[in-house]
Amino acid sequence: MSKTMKGGAPSSALAVMRREERHRIALTLNGSPRTGLCEPRALLSDFLRHELGTTGTHVGCEHGVCGACTVRVDGVAARSCLMLAVQAEGRAVDTVEGLATHDGLSDLQEAFRRHHALQCGFCTAGILMSCADYLERVPEPTEAQVRDMLSGHLCRCTGYTPIIAAVLDVAANRARARQMTAPASEETCNA
Ligand code: FES
Ligand code: FES
Repeated sequence: MSKTMKGGAPSSALAVMRREERHRIALTLNGSPRTGLCEPRALLSDFLRHELGTTGTHVGCEHGVCGACTVRVDGVAARSCLMLAVQAEGRAVDTVEGLATHDGLSDLQEAFRRHHALQCGFCTAGILMSCADYLERVPEPTEAQVRDMLSGHLCRCTGYTPIIAAVLDVAANRARARQMTAPASEETCNA
C-alpha cells in the first residue's frame, strides 16, 4: 500500500471520487415521477437520453447555440445541454415524448406534419418544445415574433418558412377555438 493511502486517500484522489459519485435524481418527466443516477457533472441532456431513455431530446452543439436539446423545465423552454442534471432535482421536465397524447399527435406536431416543417428532424424536437412554451405565453404572435423566437434554433434543412407557417397555423386554430368556446362558457356562467 502506498504511503498516501495509509493515512487515507490523498485530497486529489478524494476530489476525483466525489466527482464520480453518482447521485439519485428524482424529477417529474412528462407528468410521471422518475428517478435516475448521475454524476454531479452530468448534463441534463445526457441524463435524459442515457439514464431516462428519452432520446427524442437531441444533442448538437452542447454549447447552447443550436437549440436541438431544448426541453421545458417547470414549463419554461431551456437548453438541457446548459443545465446539470442535478439542477433538475424535484422539478418538472417535459420532453418531446410528452407532446403527443393517447389520442394522437399534438396540434403543434400535426401542423409540422401538414406544413412539411421538418426534413431530417434533428432540430425538430427542440423547436417543438420552444414553440409549445412560446405559444402559451404569446398565443397570437406575429410572423416577426415567430421568426424572432426561432432565431434561437438552427435548422439546416427547412429554410424555416414551413416552420413559421406551422406555428402561425396553430396559433390561428387555437384562437378560433377560443372564440368558439367563449360564448358557451359565458352562457354556462349566466345559467
Ligand atoms: S445541444 Fe444544446 S443548444 Fe445545441
Ligand atoms: S429538419 Fe434537419 S436540421 Fe431542421
